[in-house]
Parts: sequence; C-alpha cells; structure tokens
Amino acid sequence: MSGGAEVGRGYDATQTVFGAGDPRARVLLLGEQPGDQEDRQGRPFVGPAGHVLDRALADVGVDSGHACVTNAVKHFKFTVRPGRKRRIHKSPTLREMTACRPWLLAELRLVSPEVVVTLGTTAGKALLGSGFRVTEQRGALLPWPGPDGETAEDGISGPLATIHPSAVLRADDRDAVYDGLVPDLRVVADLLR
Ligand code: URA
Repeated sequence: MSGGAEVGRGYDATQTVFGAGDPRARVLLLGEQPGDQEDRQGRPFVGPAGHVLDRALADVGVDSGHACVTNAVKHFKFTVRPGRKRRIHKSPTLREMTACRPWLLAELRLVSPEVVVTLGTTAGKALLGSGFRVTEQRGALLPWPGPDGETAEDGISGPLATIHPSAVLRADDRDAVYDGLVPDLRVVADLLR
C-alpha cells in the first residue's frame, strides 16, 4: 500500500468485463472502463451511466437491444479511502489502454458494426489517438486514423465521438449536458435509418 491514501488498485477488480449486446449490432458504443456495478455484474453499462445511455438511445430512436456496448479498458480501476467501502473510479493509464487494445480491436472485427460511437475522452483516445479532444471533435463522423486503419477497411463508418454519459451525472445542470448528448446520438440514429 503506497502512502496509506489509496488501498484499491486495478488488479483488485472482480473480473474482466468484455463487450455485451447483439453480436450483429449496427452500432457499437465504446466507453472507458467498467464501473462499480459493471465490475460486480460482469457486463458493461449496467450502472447509472448505462441508464443515462439507454435513455438517450431511446430518445433518438436507437433500440439499445440492437446495439453493442464495450469499453476501451476491460477492468475496473478504483481507489478506496481508508476506513471507507465505496470504490471510487480512477482513470486508466495509457499503458492500460494499450494493453487492452487487442481485445477492443478483436471486438470491433467480430461485431463489424456500421458505426462506432466513442463515449468520452478515454474511448476517443483509445480509437483516435492521444490528440483526440472530445469538445472539438464530438457530433460528426471522423476519419479513421492509421496505423490501425484496418477497422476502416472493414467497412465501419465513423467513429462518431460524444461525451461520456457519466458527464451528465456529474454535471450541476444535468439537463443541459443531457441535451447536448442527444443531438450527437441523433447523428448516429440518422445514419442507421
Ligand atoms: N462507464 C464506462 O465507461 N463503461 C461502463 O461500462 C460503465 C461506466
């Protein structure tokens, strides 16, 4: 234990959490890493952020049953304050993202969706590189970068970037942030029509 301030580490996660959903999904939504609930249940986006995502997908007319969800990093990383039980999310490192990248590319090849939606900064960086900025690049289809352009050759459009649904939960004005997420996802819904 280093310094006594943090007792939880990534390798304390309960399990590896891979993608879930329709293996022939037309849209794959990519998050950062499993959260507390996802780590316990072994499925991505089953906690509060997942509920926001489901609601937003429903609002734009994308059936979440026909989508697939996964994460850039496949394990929950967290800290626990001394004397507390709550597991507090910690952002993954570049090393962890790189280590999980082969799994992500395998999932993309397996599902071969028509469009990939990156949710938040980590997912955007995982697919588009370290220069990705969600505020500048959200809401429009982006070109696939090299050298992993094989995902583009597989006929996957996009990716399309938007904010992470947990940003809605963290915001002071949740409605305003949610109202920004919905038009980004509507671009995806229009593409799938
Ligand atoms: N946040 C994510 O990025 N992924 C999940 O699966 C849950 C919360």
